[in-house]
Amino acid sequence: MILPAITPNASYEFAEDVRAGLSRSGQKELPSKYFYDGVGSALFEVISHLPEYGLTRADERVLRRYAHEIVDRLPSPVAVAELGSGSGKKTRWLLEAIARRQRTSYYPVEISRAALEMCRRELGDIDSISIVGFENEYLEGLAKAAAHRKPGQHLFVLFLGSTIGNFDRPAGIRFLSQVRRILGAGDCLLLGTDLEKPKSQLLAAYDDELGVTAAFNLNLLARINRELEGNFDLSQFLHVAKLNRAERSVEMHLLSKKRQIVRIPAAGIQVEFRKGETIWTESSHKYSAKEMFQIAEEAGFRCEAQWIDAEWPFAENLFVGK
Ligand code: AVJ
Repeated sequence: MILPAITPNASYEFAEDVRAGLSRSGQKELPSKYFYDGVGSALFEVISHLPEYGLTRADERVLRRYAHEIVDRLPSPVAVAELGSGSGKKTRWLLEAIARRQRTSYYPVEISRAALEMCRRELGDIDSISIVGFENEYLEGLAKAAAHRKPGQHLFVLFLGSTIGNFDRPAGIRFLSQVRRILGAGDCLLLGTDLEKPKSQLLAAYDDELGVTAAFNLNLLARINRELEGNFDLSQFLHVAKLNRAERSVEMHLLSKKRQIVRIPAAGIQVEFRKGETIWTESSHKYSAKEMFQIAEEAGFRCEAQWIDAEWPFAENLFVGK
């Protein structure tokens, strides 16, 4: 797999996003994409095994069970691009089903080098698949994958695990429209979306008993300490998960237990926190199965099929470019 060198300004972008997010006068915020350094990716992997967090296992179950049905609906030949490959574990079933009919290329797109490497270790053994990874932001990497495929090959894009849920609804539709513009008519997108469920179940999923999700959230501050010379005292922040009913999302925050001042020299800031003030670190939007058909249309696709897990409401939606 080709691993291009890390973008030279990657840590500058982190510093800039931290500066912008923490020096705001209103709600402070940090982008959730920064969760996934080596420690954060490993913690997310643990989260996916927690009894309270059924999302990843539901995603895997549906893909495993319906891989052939899904692949039967794809044009041929196809190359596969995946946005946010994660560990690559759940992609195996689809790739194996495709490999049975043709040789193909698999293009994982990841900003996390740790995740790209995990994915190569996980999937490197499948015959008749060549893996070319792109260490880029999603749209940038997808454009490169689209350019890299052989003439005549359709593109099959995977955006699994309900990562789309990190966008609010309008931003999610804008993002899907941008994906659509990189694709041609007939190219496909398999979109995984976590579905709405009872409040208690949602809150437990984002505030597990063991405290792994709390560690995952706090790692953002630890990462700022490691990479930007910050002096966050992690014991003075609390992990909070709460429901946003209007948005139909679960929000994660880090709450300051006291009034305190934190220095982050490499971001050029000093941040004051009031007691009880929070940093908003993530939103995970939840969907109804029905609304995915509308969302597809708004982004220039048609939702051609949907597969839903019975145990943990979660949908795989097959979008076809119109
Ligand atoms: C990987 C974005 C789908 O929102 O459920 C898990 C990340 N955050 N626990 C999610 C996450 C807290 C996850 N996604």
